Amino acid sequence: MFENIFESSKEIDRLAVQNRLLKEYEEPVCLRLLEGRQGVRVLDVGCNNGSKTAARFSRSGVSTVIGLEYNQTLADRAQEAYGDDRFSFYRCDVEQPEFPDQLRGWMAERQVEAFDLIHLSFVLMHLKDPNKLLGILKPFLAPAGRLLIVEANDSSSVLSPDPEGLLTEFLDILAQDPFSGDRYFGGKVPKLLEEQGYSPVKLECQTIDARGPERGKKEDLFDMFFSYLPEDVQILLEQEPDHPRPVQWKRWIQQKFERLQQLVLAEGTSISMGLNIFTAGRSEDVPLRVQRLTEKYLDQITQLCGQCVGENLYSKEELASAIGQPDQCFELLLTPEDEIGGYCWSRLTPLDAAAADAKLPPGLLRERLGDVPMVARIQSVGTSPAFRTLGLCRELLERALDWFREMEASAAICTAWKRGGFVPLASNLLKCGFQHLTDSRMVWYGRKDLVCPCCEGRCKCGAAIYYKVLKGKWAT
Ligand SMILES: C[S@@+](CC[C@H](N)C(=O)[O-])C[C@H]1O[C@@H](n2cnc3c(N)ncnc32)[C@H](O)[C@@H]1O
Repeated sequence: MFENIFESSKEIDRLAVQNRLLKEYEEPVCLRLLEGRQGVRVLDVGCNNGSKTAARFSRSGVSTVIGLEYNQTLADRAQEAYGDDRFSFYRCDVEQPEFPDQLRGWMAERQVEAFDLIHLSFVLMHLKDPNKLLGILKPFLAPAGRLLIVEANDSSSVLSPDPEGLLTEFLDILAQDPFSGDRYFGGKVPKLLEEQGYSPVKLECQTIDARGPERGKKEDLFDMFFSYLPEDVQILLEQEPDHPRPVQWKRWIQQKFERLQQLVLAEGTSISMGLNIFTAGRSEDVPLRVQRLTEKYLDQITQLCGQCVGENLYSKEELASAIGQPDQCFELLLTPEDEIGGYCWSRLTPLDAAAADAKLPPGLLRERLGDVPMVARIQSVGTSPAFRTLGLCRELLERALDWFREMEASAAICTAWKRGGFVPLASNLLKCGFQHLTDSRMVWYGRKDLVCPCCEGRCKCGAAIYYKVLKGKWAT
C-alpha cells in the first residue's frame, strides 16, 4: 500500500504541480551546478515517473542520467517515456543490502565511473534509514561532485494571519500521517551530512513564499503541501475503519480543511512553507597531489601497471627509462601516505612508431592527423582499485592533454585496450574530446611474457584507436 501511494494519478498530478512550483527555486541551483560543464553524470534517487528527472537534467552538458525508483510501474513508465541513450531508469529499493552492487552493475552498463550530481528530491524523508543511504552514496560521488537534496521542513512553515492556529493543527496531523514521511526532515539534513563527512554543506533555499495577490502560486502551494491529507486519511480509514486517530482527523478535515484552504488563498494572507534545498560535496576527498615519476615509486608503479594492464607489459627498467626524459611525462597522483592513486604515462613519438605500436598502416594515421612527424601518445593510464570511482582517469587524461598542448603537439593518439568487446577507457577518452579512429586486432600478441588479465596464454586482445587533433606547431 505504502509504495503504491506514489503511483496514484492524483499523486502524479501533485508532483507535476510541485515541479512547476519548485522550478523557480531549484533551477538556479541546478544551473549553477551544471553550467559550463561537459559529460556530467547524474544519479536521481526516487525518481518516480521520471518527469522531474527529465525536466531538470535534459540539458546540454549532461551525458548520462540514471534514475532509481522503488515502484516497478513508475520505473517502467519513466523508462518508456524518457529512456534513451542518455537517460535510463531502474527499479530498485535503495534500502536493500544489494543496492550498492546493483548500482555498480548499472554504472558499468552505462560506463559511468562516478556521479557528478546525485539528486535526492523528497526521498530521504520517506526512508527508514536516510543516514545509511547518505553514507552508501558517498563513494559514488565524483571528487568534485555534489549532492542536491530537496526536503520539506515544516518547522519554517508559517501562515499569517492565522487567528485560529489552523496551520499548526494541520501540521500536527501531517506529522503523524504515516504516508507523508518526515515533514521536518529538512531540519535534520545538515547534521546527517556532517555525520557522513560531507562538506561544504550549503542551504540554498529555506522557504517557498506566497504573498497577498499571488493567487496562482498559493493554489499550487496548497496543492503541493496540503491537498493530499484527505486522501491519506481516506486510505487509512479503509485500512482500519475504527482507528481513533484517522477518525479524529476526518472530523478535523470536515470542520476545518476548507477554512484553511480559504485562508491560504485569501488576498490578505501570506504563507511560507518550509522547503529546504541543500548542496553538499564530499569532503574527505583524498587530497591527492600530482608528481612526476621518480626512482622512489618504481616498485609501486611496476606493481600497479601490472594490475592495470597485465604483468610484464612494462618492466621496471622500461618504466625507469621514462624518468627525467623531456619528451615523456609520467605523472602520478599520490595520497598523503605516498600511495599511488593513479598514473598516466604520455610521450611524444614519431608517427611511424605510434602506427607500428597500434598495428596500423602509418598512412591511416596521416590521413586523420595530417602529415606530422611526431604525435603525442597516451602510452598508459590506470588507477588503483581503491580509487576507481573517483573520476581520476579523466583528470589524468585532461592533464596529459595539457602537457601535449604545452609541448605544442598537433595530434594525440591512444591505443586503448579492448577486453571482451569493451574498451574501459572509451568513455573517458570521448569525454576528453578524443574520437574513435579504428580498431586493431591482436595488438599485444607479440609480447610473449605478458600476463594478460583476461586471456589464457598469449594475449589476443585487440585495441580501439582514438585520436584528437590539437593545434600544435606540427599542424599541416
Ligand atoms: C515524494 S516522491 C518524490 C519523487 C521525485 N523525486 C520528485 O521530487 O518529484 C518519492 C519517491 O521516492 C520513491 N522511493 C521511496 N522509497 C524508496 C526506496 N527505498 N528506494 C527507491 N525509491 C524510493 C517513491 O516510490 C517515490 O516515487
